Amino acid sequence: MAFKNSLEQYIKKNLKNRVFIVSSNREPYSHTHTANGIKIIEAVGGVHNLLNLIAQVSNGIYVAHGSGDADKEVVDKYNRIKLTTDGKSYTLKRIFLSKKEIDKYYYGFANQTLWPLCHAVFVKPIFDQSWWEMYKIVNRKFTDAILEEIGEKKAFVWLNDYHLALVPQMLRASGKDIKIGTFWHIPWPTYEIFRVNPWGKELLMGLLGNNFLSFHRGYHVQNFLQCVQRELEAKVNFEPSKVTFHDFITKIDSLPAGIDYEEILQIKEKPLTTSKSFLEKEYDIEIPYIAIGVERLDYTKGLIERLKMIDKFLEKYPQFIEKFAYLGVVAPSRQHIPAYRQYSKEFIDLVEKINWKYSTTKWHPIYLINQELQRKKILSFFKDANCGLVTSLDDGMNLVAKEYVLSCQAEKGILVLSKFTGAARDLRYSIHINPYNIDEGAEAIYKAITMPSSEKKSRNLKMREELKDRNIYKWAINFINRTLYD
Ligand code: F6P
Repeated sequence: MAFKNSLEQYIKKNLKNRVFIVSSNREPYSHTHTANGIKIIEAVGGVHNLLNLIAQVSNGIYVAHGSGDADKEVVDKYNRIKLTTDGKSYTLKRIFLSKKEIDKYYYGFANQTLWPLCHAVFVKPIFDQSWWEMYKIVNRKFTDAILEEIGEKKAFVWLNDYHLALVPQMLRASGKDIKIGTFWHIPWPTYEIFRVNPWGKELLMGLLGNNFLSFHRGYHVQNFLQCVQRELEAKVNFEPSKVTFHDFITKIDSLPAGIDYEEILQIKEKPLTTSKSFLEKEYDIEIPYIAIGVERLDYTKGLIERLKMIDKFLEKYPQFIEKFAYLGVVAPSRQHIPAYRQYSKEFIDLVEKINWKYSTTKWHPIYLINQELQRKKILSFFKDANCGLVTSLDDGMNLVAKEYVLSCQAEKGILVLSKFTGAARDLRYSIHINPYNIDEGAEAIYKAITMPSSEKKSRNLKMREELKDRNIYKWAINFINRTLYD
């Protein structure tokens, strides 16, 4: 726990006179009705895990959209609830949104305008004036909730992601003494793509309320600076990167996020069900070579391309029939959006087609778990999977890729990784692919499962050194440090 302690020490020393607030759209825990009463559910996904840890360590206040159907019933009159995990507690303050607000702000502007605009995956963003208006209204709601918690005190506010782009400027306009940092987890597009957004200027101005704005990779920083240079009357500095706008300076830099190295090693010691035992238990099959993928069912993740790679691989190397299986953990996501429903349908159709093409009496190549799984379960699945598949068409970072490299057995597993993920720069010794190149992907799967153990081990150990060194806690310290000090 040495890394976690260092963040704790850092926060105690540097933030003692400021209220610490973390804010994201998705809440870390939701409450839901079940037959046995109200149940608390933890959000899954690397980023949520990370923000939850930071709120715990800082004993701060977490402001987020209350999305659970029993959320309202458990909060106090200020919409707060105290959460305690691992003996540490923090306050979750929930913002309640109407169905119309959720439709236009979350499903509309955040996920049908900004999400496709920022990911270079050839899905056209939709520009709808009423979504934009609602995005502003909901950003104002977040701002007001944060200000309510700050009161007359000094504060440090950590904002998370593309749902809250206007909050920094709104907070700044309050005139209070607040250090504001935003971490933008998704890519930032080139100016040629960004310029079609009718409200581009306002978005940039919103983000220039930050003391510090961070992306995962340097090319996203460059893209952002170029957008500012072309759209605003601002002074843009590339080295070191900062923007002066209306006499206020925003520092901008890349800080690639890391993972919780120590926590993952702990889970690895005592795993729950692993991939091999899962397939044995559920399907009564013993598979020598297992590939695994874990993500939300999202068109940016290159899931259709991945299935085609598996198809091509089996076509070229039929000796792996009955010896290879792909275990896909796909969490349904954003199903109210037509593009996601369409994508899910195509994905399921293709799974069915490939399984039918190769199936034998007791085996088929693709096994799906269509639900969100607890983190511990996922990390345990990674342990004996021979190959991790991350095939995103564009991805800010992809923490799952990093988690696989640390969770697998060093001499048994190897990661096949899209070169269009932010993680590709940190995971140099994985097998890199262009996910649009299906033949290359099929060959990569072959290479992964036939790679000698000694080579896997040496590649994994090199990558693990870096994962240890650039762990999540160091990343958080860097982010806070850059936000606090000039
Ligand atoms: O990848 C960026 C990200 O914000 C992740 O942190 C998160 O998993 C996802 O996008 C948002 O998911 P959702 O729409 O389910 O909250």
